[in-house]
Amino acid sequence: MDNLLSMNHLSQEDIMRIIKRALEMKAGNFKPFLEKKYIANLFFENSTRTKTSFEMAESKLNITSIPFDVNYSSVSKGETLYDTCKTIEALGSDALVIRHAETEYYGQLVGLGIPVINAGDGSGSHPTQSLLDLMTIYENFGTFRDLNIIISGDIVHSRVAHSNQQALERLGANVRFSAPGEWIDQNMGVPYTDLDEGLGKADVLMLLRVQHERHDVAARFTKEAYNRDYGMNPERYGRMKEGAIIMHPAPVNRGVEISEELVESEKSVIFEQMRNGVFARMSVLQEILGSVE
Ligand code: CP
Repeated sequence: MDNLLSMNHLSQEDIMRIIKRALEMKAGNFKPFLEKKYIANLFFENSTRTKTSFEMAESKLNITSIPFDVNYSSVSKGETLYDTCKTIEALGSDALVIRHAETEYYGQLVGLGIPVINAGDGSGSHPTQSLLDLMTIYENFGTFRDLNIIISGDIVHSRVAHSNQQALERLGANVRFSAPGEWIDQNMGVPYTDLDEGLGKADVLMLLRVQHERHDVAARFTKEAYNRDYGMNPERYGRMKEGAIIMHPAPVNRGVEISEELVESEKSVIFEQMRNGVFARMSVLQEILGSVE
């Protein structure tokens, strides 16, 4: 695999291989690279989980993370994304991990000679988040076939919703969206359900973060109103199936998408998703940088 830009570029076989290797790695079965490798993690948008888990994954595999802080870089002098990436290639990095606010920023990088791993592009894709989500579902159910999955919340702005829906359907799951009217994405052709109608049959409820930085939602919803009308709260929790799980890519707006007391409840796998992120990213790094010497 040359790059990881979007889930659309992965076959079902690719996805299953990456997930199964990630689970093996979580069980402790992996070997770090014998020959030193170098990666620069270029985060033009803020991140806690993705950036830190890539750094952790790189460290476990004997890959040196080359420090790059956009605020102290020549981006402030007008350097283009292509020239920044080409420079880091020239300095000897084996690959780049990039998060950028522009959807499909990677279209600017044709001509780059090293692989790119997309760590999130605008409202486009977030493939490593999707892979860790799929890994978590597979770890819990051992299959995707015929699982009922509801992805609920800010669908139209969510790169997680887009990446996950496409991959889950290809793997045999039944995916429904649920969203307030203005966050319905009419272009995707995915059926919508009322959360309260679909919840009792759902194996997986995947909550999406209200993205305050991309739009002003405060004008329409109070925290309490969003949680009451669209969020996970104790009343809805009580109507979920036995064995069902609650997911969220995080960061969580506690008390909004999910009530404070449910973030670490029995059905919540939110922190397990974060833990799995390290192993999913290790598996991707091994896929991209080649097998162990
Ligand atoms: N889920 C996710 O991408 O989190 P960060 O923005 O903290 O990386």
